[in-house]
Amino acid sequence: MEKLELLYEGKAKKVYKTSDPSLLIMEFKDDATAFDGKKKGVIEDKGILNCRISTIFFELLGEKGIDTHFVKRLNDREMLVKSVKILPIEVIVRNIAAGSMAKRYGIEEGFELKRPVLEFCLKDDRLGDPMINNYHLIALGIAREEQLKKIEEMAFNVNNILKEYLMAKGILLVDFKLEFGEKDGNILLADEISPDTCRFWDINTKEKLDKDRFRRDLGNIIEAYREVYSRLKN
Ligand code: C5P
Repeated sequence: MEKLELLYEGKAKKVYKTSDPSLLIMEFKDDATAFDGKKKGVIEDKGILNCRISTIFFELLGEKGIDTHFVKRLNDREMLVKSVKILPIEVIVRNIAAGSMAKRYGIEEGFELKRPVLEFCLKDDRLGDPMINNYHLIALGIAREEQLKKIEEMAFNVNNILKEYLMAKGILLVDFKLEFGEKDGNILLADEISPDTCRFWDINTKEKLDKDRFRRDLGNIIEAYREVYSRLKN
């Protein structure tokens, strides 16, 4: 499958058209950003690792019956995906309080939540991706009620599948962000699932194995991404 014109360039990925209008190529870049693009950097080989890690997760989720946009990995940095209409919503699932949730409610990072939490954020960098609820999303015409129900159900299923899978690899799934798209009236899980979009902690040491190493200047960023990949691969 050949790459045709560039359709979209985001902070960490590029999306290209292909000769088949129903398929796109998603290319993972080494660029890293945080805090709505205010912090920028390049992490050599990050794109390769995120492409491989996302592939492992999408294949696992597909086997477990989750509908996703993933078709196949093409090479080191590219995957073939179904063309979907992305909903401008970031869907965050949390098992352990960290990041913005810990800050917002004044809780210590690491607090084990009594049950998983789901948050919606409006995907808009200019506004700083503000949190938004079902009522807003429906009232603003961003999503329909049945779509949000389906998204919530899929997001919690993804959480159960990934949490259990990662636990066996010695990784705690602290939280993660998903994006969904619509195709022919169906909701598909889209975008990527990687250390850029999830918080992964080592189960014993609680060492951070994700993008917080970049956000918080903790060093050894690519080493952490490599560690995640090597645990998933084995
Ligand atoms: O920053 P916050 O604690 O809200 O992030 C929750 C989870 O969502 C983290 O795993 C983070 O990596 C992910 N996230 C993301 N993209 C964003 C915001 C959050 O992947 N724009």
